[in-house]
Amino acid sequence: ISVTYVEANGAQHVVDLPEGENVMRGALDNGIDGIVGECGGGLACATCHCYVDDEWADRLPAADQAELDMLESTSSERKPTSRLSCQIVMAPALDGIVVHLPEAQY
Ligand code: FES
Repeated sequence: ISVTYVEANGAQHVVDLPEGENVMRGALDNGIDGIVGECGGGLACATCHCYVDDEWADRLPAADQAELDMLESTSSERKPTSRLSCQIVMAPALDGIVVHLPEAQY
């Protein structure tokens, strides 16, 4: 399932992730800078912050309250398309998703 990560500097990385993999882990496993994922996906940091591409933002399941709370503490500006990438789990319907990485995670 294809994911395109776009770094803040414009660099693009297209990777294939297995179903069930989350977008934070996918970045780490593929050496993509811009996602830290300090808490390992436990909704206890906000260092996996990303901006889901406009075209895709509405196609994701809505963020739950725990994710919304954590999004209060992102380092870079929170936008309407802000999500925590550890909560984006790859499924066939997301094939081709594009996520933009923020300037900073701290
Ligand atoms: Fe910590 Fe996503 S990795 S909240």
